[in-house]
Amino acid sequence: ARAQIGVTGLAVMGSNIARNFARHGHTVALHNRSVAKTDALIAEHGGDGDFVRTETVEEFVAALQKPRRVLIMVKAGDATDSVIEELASAMEPGDIIIDGGNALYTDTIRREASLRNRGLHFVGAGISGGEEGALNGPSIMPGGPKESYESLGPLLESVAAQVDGTPCCTHIGPDGAGHFVKMVHNGIEYADMQLIGEAYHLFRDALGLDAGQIADVFAEWNTGTLESYLIEITAEVLRQKDAKTGQALVDVIVDAAEQKGTGRWTVKSALDLGVPVTGIAEAVFARALSGSRAQRAAAQAQGLAAGTLGDKPTDAAQFTEDIRAALYASKIVAYAQGFDQIAAGSAEYNWDLKPADLATIWRGGCIIRAQFLNRIKDAYEENPELPSLILAPYFRESIEAGIDSWRRVVATATMLGIPVPGFASSLSYYDGLRAERLPAALTQGQRDFFGAHTYERTDRPGKFHTLWSGDRTEVEA
Ligand code: 6PG
Repeated sequence: ARAQIGVTGLAVMGSNIARNFARHGHTVALHNRSVAKTDALIAEHGGDGDFVRTETVEEFVAALQKPRRVLIMVKAGDATDSVIEELASAMEPGDIIIDGGNALYTDTIRREASLRNRGLHFVGAGISGGEEGALNGPSIMPGGPKESYESLGPLLESVAAQVDGTPCCTHIGPDGAGHFVKMVHNGIEYADMQLIGEAYHLFRDALGLDAGQIADVFAEWNTGTLESYLIEITAEVLRQKDAKTGQALVDVIVDAAEQKGTGRWTVKSALDLGVPVTGIAEAVFARALSGSRAQRAAAQAQGLAAGTLGDKPTDAAQFTEDIRAALYASKIVAYAQGFDQIAAGSAEYNWDLKPADLATIWRGGCIIRAQFLNRIKDAYEENPELPSLILAPYFRESIEAGIDSWRRVVATATMLGIPVPGFASSLSYYDGLRAERLPAALTQGQRDFFGAHTYERTDRPGKFHTLWSGDRTEVEA
């Protein structure tokens, strides 16, 4: 046995990460359900390094040095369970199975517990960065038992993206912690993409710019505080011309966004944890609305009224700056909410997650990689107990600097009938956070009225109930 790591599931992500391991000098055992993919990988990229071709699971497992380390790169879901089972029955206590797919963290918790009972280590690892990242350096979020990281960590860190000499990979926490964190990463990715989409929509419909002109704005933004992978690729996508029609490609793509589930999971989990991730939720719902093609067609056929619309902005430079500030402020809100969810998940599952570590490994390799993550890292390093990212001095001041712009963008969009669910809900969240008195007092009164659910008072401790259907005196509950 000579392989340091095995990869099973050789679709593009699996192939690329296997090649990445090989390029870093590790001997990689390859396995795939159909051997054709294994052979294709070796035929095309055998020169990347040392691969061991295997056909059966037994052969695959036998090719690995102990403790054996196998990375599963199959589509998340039922397939994962059967692959795990096949491997587990061929492996020995102390061996490590790593699931590098986008698994639901509760599945990972279940799988880890069941393999632990059989003496095997199960590591649910979030891997971000798409195909290119898998090949050239992804951000890796491994969970599972801490001791498995001793033998696995150096291997994963060697293939991860590096920022300032620091690998974008660290042990996240026990059992499902890695996949939980990857899930929230994806939720934030959805929010980021939605906010960029809203900015694009405003440039197109409020300022009347074409795709190429908008690409220039994003390219320019990518040199400032918004510098990030998603802003960078936005400019590239907007610049792309369709070979068939000569139009901008974005103008011939159907405007119905799809989703594979990680954003939705983030919101479901946030609902269970009671964390308001409004930015992520709006992003998931905006994709769903865009995909409601029959409803949208019916609404357009009937010509739903817009009402009296306002004037388009006349100062394009000012409005461009307003959009930039609105995007940045809304992005801060989305990340603040995502980190709140991470804190809540950490408390719920006793994961002891370190927000500064997560910001550190998201600085490179992953889809949400950005300059901005350095600021988050600094903020949490300075104060790990930050009540909200929004309250860190840098972020508080950034929002303060852009708040007037943010309000103008939401107001203008509203008056022009352009939907900005991300910008608007983030601003509402921010205003909610700052509000001295929220209408929740009324909600509590109503709940007490119809259900005797009791309320607290501002002036003394305890729970109270008003005898609404009696003489309306207040009693202590
Ligand atoms: C990443 C991506 C990756 C994938 C997601 C998003 O971090 O590399 O998030 O995991 O692109 O599954 O997919 P959907 O938009 O289809 O949900």
